[in-house]
Order: sequence, then structure tokens, then C-alpha cells
Amino acid sequence: MPYSSILDVESLNKTFKVKAGDVEAVKDVTFRARKGEVSVIVGPSGSGKTTFLYLVGSLEKPDSGEINVFGDDICRSDADLIKYRQEHVGFVFQFFNLIPALTVLENAVLPMDICGKPKPNEKQRAAELLEKMGIDRRLQKSKPNRISGGEKQRVAIARALANDPDIILADEPTGNLDAETGKTVVDILVGLAKNDGKCIVIVTHDESILNAADWAYRMIDGTLTGIELPSEGETEE
Ligand SMILES: Nc1ncnc2c1ncn2[C@@H]1O[C@H](COP(=O)(O)OP(=O)(O)O)[C@@H](O)[C@H]1O
Ligand SMILES: [Mg+2]
Repeated sequence: MPYSSILDVESLNKTFKVKAGDVEAVKDVTFRARKGEVSVIVGPSGSGKTTFLYLVGSLEKPDSGEINVFGDDICRSDADLIKYRQEHVGFVFQFFNLIPALTVLENAVLPMDICGKPKPNEKQRAAELLEKMGIDRRLQKSKPNRISGGEKQRVAIARALANDPDIILADEPTGNLDAETGKTVVDILVGLAKNDGKCIVIVTHDESILNAADWAYRMIDGTLTGIELPSEGETEE
């Protein structure tokens, strides 16, 4: 392979059929992402960002196109989508999507419990991931409604890491956070790329996240185009 991508998306299309007519949410999108890199896709509300991310995470099925992960097309009918979702991708959402009845620690253990390949020391692994995200043992015993938004998102990131995925897909990860807390969360995602070699894909309407990008794209009406980033050393106004 000339380009050592983890994720290699070719000519992806998704149209929703609604009463008012067809909505072409994702149009002929081609996209690649490698290990250790942060890709940021910006675009206004309704431009197709979430749909694109859900297709890549196999939460939605495309009408046509390929999603190659380590060279295997997950859209092929024999692809093991459950295994793909459980072992290769971690999701981070705008509204955190933590389970309110479970403690923070139990939330972070859950993906390991349900993956069908239980790990030894699941609790300890979850506790370590949470600690790495700055969630101490005391907070780990709390229910999600007792912690702040920034803490919730850090718990969600720990949960996303539970099965040690290669790819983290983040949908508006700062959408519910103040600017400073949002920046901390983005810094964590960047660290996961730089230090742990994760392939990070962030979709957002927040253009300030472009500062964190190795590769930047704009989504408009379902179409993805690359954005030129200022080169290394160039100062930003
Ligand atoms: N399940 C669905 N059924 C019908 N239309 C949908 C569905 N999901 C998304 N859409 C439409 O697809 C377009 C893209 O939506 P979305 O991917 O959520 O955009 P974004 O995340 O950029 O705000 C919008 O017009 C939206 O209304
Ligand atoms: Mg969205």
C-alpha cells in the first residue's frame, strides 16, 4: 500500500429518504487517516458530519463506497461489524452518553464486559484509564450526574479507550463544554494520537479545533474538501 492508512474511505455515499424528498447527507466522500494523526472535519449543522462519522463507525450503512480499515472493507457483507465496532473504534459524543445508573468506573468497564472477550483485571484497567484522564479514585465511585461536563467527557474518553481501539471517532466533543474545558479535551485527544498512536477523527462546527489538526477538511452539503493548514512555524494571527 503506497499510503499506510488505518482508515481508507473511498467514494462514500449516503442518502436519507424522507417525506420531503431525498437528503444526500454524504456525497462521494474520500478520506484517509493514519496512525498517530488527528483529522478534523469542520462544517455547519446539517452538513453531514455525524452521518459520515456514523458510517465510518458502522453505526449507519452506506449506500455505496468502501470503508477500508487496515485494508479490509467493513462494508462487505461478510465483514464482522460487531468485532469491528468493539475492537477497532471508540466513540466520543457531544452529550457524553454515559449510563446514569452506573458509576464512573462501571461506565469505563462496560465496553470490556460486553465485548465477548473479557480481559483480566478489567476494573483495574478502567481505573488506570480514568486516572490517566485525571479522574481520581473518589470521582470513579460517583454517578455521572455528580461530576462536571469536562469530567464526563474525560470519562467518555476513558470508556472509548477501554478495548484499546486503533481509531477514536469524536462527534462535537467540545459541543457541551466551555472554551477552556473544551481545549483540555482536545489536548487529550491530540495526546492520544501523539503518545499512543491512535488515529483520531474529530467532526465539529467549532473551527478553533482546526488548531489541533494534522489534516483538516470542510464538509458542506455532504461534500468533503481538504483545507490547507498553515505550515509548521508560520504564526497565526
Ligand atoms: N436518520 C436520518 N433520517 C433522515 N435524515 C437524516 C438522518 N440523519 C441525518 N439526516 C439528515 O442528513 C443531513 C446531515 O445530517 P448530519 O449528518 O446530522 O449533519 P451534521 O452532523 O453536520 O449536523 C441533514 O440534512 C439531516 O437532517
Ligand atoms: Mg452532528
